[in-house]
Amino acid sequence: MGKVHERIDDRLRRFIEAQHVFFVATAPSGPGGHVNVSPKGIGGTFAVLDDHTVAYVDVTASGSETIAHIRENGRVTIMFCAFEGPPNIVRLHGRGRFVTLYDDGFDELLGLFDSDVDESQGVRAVIVVDVERVSDSCGYGVPFMSYQGERDLLPQYMARKGVEGRADYRRLKNRTSIDGLPAFDMDGAG
Ligand SMILES: Cc1cc2nc3c(=O)[nH]c(=O)nc-3n(C[C@H](O)[C@H](O)[C@H](O)COP(=O)(O)O)c2cc1C
Repeated sequence: MGKVHERIDDRLRRFIEAQHVFFVATAPSGPGGHVNVSPKGIGGTFAVLDDHTVAYVDVTASGSETIAHIRENGRVTIMFCAFEGPPNIVRLHGRGRFVTLYDDGFDELLGLFDSDVDESQGVRAVIVVDVERVSDSCGYGVPFMSYQGERDLLPQYMARKGVEGRADYRRLKNRTSIDGLPAFDMDGAG
């Protein structure tokens, strides 16, 4: 049943790294605004860096809620569910930071992932989370579902746009959150 763990130990790490999808939740500060949850899971784009640090590859898409909320307050929760095998749900609560494609160290960070997605498929940042709380719970209510493969739609869609097309798309869709907070506004004026 549910337990709080001191760290991401080897058993938790194996579980986390075996999942094909995970969910990232963030919220703006204060009583108002929209709480966000985004699905993630392009193969190989999640990594446990050490027993209190995880990271994932953030791809250009129709919104940029997570970066906006991390900029404002840093709070982030990542959730993994077992859809196959023994039941389990793991939550990682922590503080996020991000390194964008325009920042020093981006290529080295991206090189840590077991994936070949890069800027040419829309990667805009790597999100790093300093994990403050590690917990799991029973997962008895999560249905069995079988993995059938990646859709591959998002990276291919972004690849077709080209460098300038991706930057233009982000200028249009990623500059602010749905609440108007500054989000991915690093592409400049264009
Ligand atoms: C099934 C599914 C998987 C996705 N996987 C990823 C992913 O691995 N990385 C990613 O950055 N965005 C992924 N997306 C897009 C995100 O859900 C989201 O729209 C986008 O990344 C914006 O990120 P944000 O809401 O966290 O700011 C996926 C979307 C779907 C529907």
